Amino acid sequence: MGDERAEPRVVTEQRGDAVLVGINRPDKRNALDKATTAELGRVIAEAGGEPCILVVHSTTPGMFVAGADIAELAARTADDALGAINAGLFERLEAHRWPTIAVVDGPALGGGCELALACDLRVASTRARFAQPELALGIMAGAGGNWRLAQLVGLGMARRMLYTGLTLDATAALDAGLVDAVHEPDAVLDAALEMAAGIATRSWRALELTKLALRLHRPATTTFDVAAQALLFESDDKRQRMQAFLDRRR
Ligand code: COA
Repeated sequence: MGDERAEPRVVTEQRGDAVLVGINRPDKRNALDKATTAELGRVIAEAGGEPCILVVHSTTPGMFVAGADIAELAARTADDALGAINAGLFERLEAHRWPTIAVVDGPALGGGCELALACDLRVASTRARFAQPELALGIMAGAGGNWRLAQLVGLGMARRMLYTGLTLDATAALDAGLVDAVHEPDAVLDAALEMAAGIATRSWRALELTKLALRLHRPATTTFDVAAQALLFESDDKRQRMQAFLDRRR
């Protein structure tokens, strides 16, 4: 895959009324490190100027996002947690002025699932997988998983996913309301772009105001989660569990 420092972490492309936002860190399965979250934040902010549909996807077929970068997470402190690196990014994504669609063609784990949850709509391929493995790593799904997941799939399924690490395949995710449509892998991006094109025929101003109106149903914020995560980030349990993941790979 080459020297990843030479590769842009996020690749954007305008396609009609859609802006494709391609996460591009294949070597690490698109794990969200600070460089990637910073780049995503910049792209999202820039795309707010002109009406467009943001289509968040992965440049790597068969992979969405393997979560926050565990090598960085292991070293993060309470101070980092309070800085809300991922939680803050997903808040800004959720609050993006225009509609957003996540295209999930592979595992969406931890922060990857939360990234998809922060989008307005989710279009999955048959090889999509959704899970929140955070508790196995000694932390929690503090970037929106705790409440955006419950909002979409209900408290029962959210508990099963958060407590047990249950993985939903594409069919189960569709049944649970976690995704809006499922397509074959080679058709999923086009299907999302078609959905975006359909949305873009509608009134931008009415879309913008509808998005604001729907935000009134927001049941919570990440305020509690960020504080709780700060506590967990300082624990030896978390350090040991994350180190075990990193050691297994070596
Ligand atoms: N953070 C940091 N690095 C990660 C990562 C993550 N969340 N997920 C994968 N990587 C890295 C691996 O360490 C490995 O790096 P290396 O080649 O330098 O050793 C590389 O990405 C490839 O990972 P690998 O596990 O070999 O790929 P795979 O295709 O067999 O499996 C996954 C892909 C996503 C199923 C697997 O990597 C995984 O389970 N990742 C962790 C998921 C997780 O727990 N996320 C929640 C974080 S809160």
